[in-house]
Parts: sequence; C-alpha cells; structure tokens
Amino acid sequence: MSGQGRARIERVTTAGTFSLDGGTWEVENNVWIVGDDAEVLVIDPAHDADAVAAAVAGRTVAAVLLTHGHDDHIRHAREFADRAGAPVLLHPADLMLWEAVYPGTAPDAGIADGQAFTVAGAELTALHTPGHSPGSVCFHAPALATVFTGDTLFAGGPGATGRSYSDFPTIIDSIRTRLLTLPPDTTVNTGHGDPTTIGAEAPHLQEWIDRGH
Ligand SMILES: [Fe+2]
Repeated sequence: MSGQGRARIERVTTAGTFSLDGGTWEVENNVWIVGDDAEVLVIDPAHDADAVAAAVAGRTVAAVLLTHGHDDHIRHAREFADRAGAPVLLHPADLMLWEAVYPGTAPDAGIADGQAFTVAGAELTALHTPGHSPGSVCFHAPALATVFTGDTLFAGGPGATGRSYSDFPTIIDSIRTRLLTLPPDTTVNTGHGDPTTIGAEAPHLQEWIDRGH
C-alpha cells in the first residue's frame, strides 16, 4: 500500500462548545490524526464525529488518545471511538471530568507517564503535564519533531488555569520541565489555534510567570 509505514500528521478543525463551572463558551478545536494510509492514532476527536471519521476515511484507528478531560475535547470521543472500533484512553487523574460527561462509565484504558504508542513506525510518548487539569498529557513524537500539547501549551503561553481543577504554578512546572526541555525545532501542535515551536515559546517563560497566566 503506498504511503504505508511513513507517518504523517493531519489536522481537522471542529467547532462547538466548552462548559465548566456553570459557563459555556464557543470554541474551535484541533483534532490531530497521526499515521499512514493504513493505520492512525486520533488525538482529541472533538465536537464532530462525522468530520473526524471523514478525515480518517476508513483507516484502522489504533487508539483514541485524549490530552485531558475537558468536555470540548471528550464529548464526542466515545461516539467516534465506538464507530471506529477503537479504545479511548485518558489519564486517570482526569476521571472526574470524564464522569461529568459520561456518568457511570469509564474510558477503555488509562494513559501513564512515559507510555509509548507506535503508529506507522513513529512513536508517541505520553508526558504527564498537569496544571490545565490534573490529568493533562502531551504526546511527543521525536521522529516527527512534534509534540501534541492539548491545552497545556499554546502559541503565546500556557493553557488556562482559572477554573476548577487547574493550577498555574503546576502548569508552569510542567511546561518548564517536560516541554521546554524538548529540542527547540520541535513543532507544537496545540488543542486550539495555530501551531508553534518549542524554540519560539521558550524565551517567554518568565513573562508568563510574571503576568500570572
Ligand atoms: Fe481544556
């Protein structure tokens, strides 16, 4: 099969809402698909299972990886995973967020710090990066010079830490010790908005600490 064995990255943008602490906001999310013509991993299939399924286009979905448990990222993950016949995985420290969306159920498996997922010859390693939520994880793919950061690191700074279960000193510690230590040319594929690089963000750490968000 042409293209098999050479991992590539595809981005799908979907729109919907994010609700927490009694508020609801309109948001656009990035869905990331990593793989080849035969098999893919899907990160955060947000808002629109049809759009994600169309992009996957019949390829085998090895797993659905969730960067964290906020409802904009997970509300359609079970529907998509079931349609794809794939397990959906979430770090256990975000199970209370899963429970809020899917009462009385659980993800198919957890995600542990250091756990590796291989697709099309590329390895994605989970980095536990708490702060935006207790169970936030990033997925680092060294062979693709890419890290998928969910809502932990964006172009311009850390993810939000003003709502329940978030903590600013914790996200700063995660970013400093787990993300800014990656090679500067690493592409940062975010949960919302445009990609950036580790090298573009790293010089701004002290500004973020000083401004407090
Ligand atoms: Fe989030």
